[in-house]
Amino acid sequence: MQKYRPQKIPTVWYIFSVLVIFVLFLIFMPANFRTRSEDRFLYLAHCSPCHGENGQGEGRASQTLYFQAKDFRTLPTELFENIEKIQMIIAAGIQEKAMPSFANELDATEIKRIASYVQVLSKERLP
Ligand code: HEC
Repeated sequence: MQKYRPQKIPTVWYIFSVLVIFVLFLIFMPANFRTRSEDRFLYLAHCSPCHGENGQGEGRASQTLYFQAKDFRTLPTELFENIEKIQMIIAAGIQEKAMPSFANELDATEIKRIASYVQVLSKERLP
């Protein structure tokens, strides 16, 4: 009986294909990962002390506020769906509820990135 002998693929092709997959990964995946983690970085630096790491109003500074910082899962739909309004709130702050204005601290691009991250955090809607 003839023995089954799989055809041997040269090692160089293995290495080559792994490299190709890796390069494709580098080209397509991290662009998304990277921007998201930079958005999160900005959010953590400026908003998490009050709104919490997960945007659920659980930040430590929030415990000393008269108005607890917003849990983004309860963000009003009109805000949730309108990134420009979120940007406006970040820039203007909410004076009567002790949320600071970030107009002097962040530029427009940063504000936009944080706003889009707020939308990510508020995806899990609470009724
Ligand atoms: C000093 C604490 C504090 C910081 C820092 C802070 N917030 Fe707030 N935020 C608040 C408080 C307090 C409210 C009011 C909660 C309420 O409506 O009852 C609020 C409300 C909000 C709202 C909801 C507004 C509405 O009309 O429902 C958004 C959106 C928001 N903050 C985004 C942010 C973002 C983004 C950052 C970071 C750039 C940030 N906040 C930083 C305290 C803070």
